[in-house]
Amino acid sequence: MNAPSTAHPMSIDTPASKALGIRYPIVQGGLARIARAELAAAVSAAGGMGQIAVAGLAEVDLLRAEIRKTKQLTSAPFGVNFPVGHIKIDHLLDLVAEEGVAAVSFTGGNPKPYIDRLAGTGISILVLVSGPEQAKKAEQAGAHVLATVGYEGGGHIGRTDLTTLVAIPLVKRAVSIPVLAGGGIADGFGMAAALALGADGVEVGTRFIAVREAFAHQNYKDAVIRAGADDTVVIKRSVGTPGRALANEWAGKILDVEKAGGSRETILGMVRADANERAIIDGDMRGSVAWLGQSAALVDDIPGAAEVVQRMVAEAATAAARLAHQMQVVER
Ligand SMILES: Cc1cc2nc3c(=O)[nH]c(=O)nc-3n(C[C@H](O)[C@H](O)[C@H](O)COP(=O)(O)O)c2cc1C
Repeated sequence: MNAPSTAHPMSIDTPASKALGIRYPIVQGGLARIARAELAAAVSAAGGMGQIAVAGLAEVDLLRAEIRKTKQLTSAPFGVNFPVGHIKIDHLLDLVAEEGVAAVSFTGGNPKPYIDRLAGTGISILVLVSGPEQAKKAEQAGAHVLATVGYEGGGHIGRTDLTTLVAIPLVKRAVSIPVLAGGGIADGFGMAAALALGADGVEVGTRFIAVREAFAHQNYKDAVIRAGADDTVVIKRSVGTPGRALANEWAGKILDVEKAGGSRETILGMVRADANERAIIDGDMRGSVAWLGQSAALVDDIPGAAEVVQRMVAEAATAAARLAHQMQVVER
């Protein structure tokens, strides 16, 4: 039997790609302070869905400028990602509706009031969840698409430690709307695995830090490449909002304070925006909070974001063809 040949698919049609109006069901996750116009536009122009992260741009003028810049760079649909619970976002939702943004995603707290506010605007609504219970609630609240993000993922993760491999089938069984999978997916082989488990597409975070268009200091991008499988830790568990970050000196100090029973104020004080900016803007990879997923271990270069999307599509096709080839029933 000959080895399977693969072509680069022109599109990957799933309920998620249809719901979001994109060619490939590859969504660049909101990356606080890192995902701006250049990154969002590059991912969207390549056929995925890029997003601008509101964290760090939570003022009307700043966000409007970023949205307009993205529109100048691409006519493809893109999203705007909102953290729920930390900052006031009502006025920014009005802006997003005014600007006719294609999609909005919510992470963190209860998205229901914001989804209600966007009713009738035609904006696609993506909600991040970390397991089946949250998924059901988000579906009932009116989400159009979900992204379930597992324990492997970078940034804030669920409280349950549920891994992506187990979360995908559980969440798929719990809801009837399209489900993206994230956490640990940095290439097309991971994407094929997620699709095989029933996901309708992927949400990718860590991989998109190490691309040319990401708004992050070169030291951060280099740290993604250097990081091995053991180089991330989960911090902030004691305050109920666990997040995965680079295992550096600062993360070690935070964990020490958490172990010693430090107060909520002390811990939150150590993970404020300035701690994150020390990594992203100053390139201080020791004394900062640098959100990072386990999949950093799979990343070893800094290409353009379009190339990441193209590679993922080609690798997913290769994986699918390889499996189909291996599973061919041989007539005896
Ligand atoms: C540096 C960084 C910042 C993040 N910031 C946000 C954010 O602002 N909003 C959000 O919804 N998710 C955020 N996340 C989570 C990602 O959007 C995505 O769900 C997650 O990274 C997927 O797992 P992966 O890192 O294994 O690809 C962040 C992740 C990282 C690595």
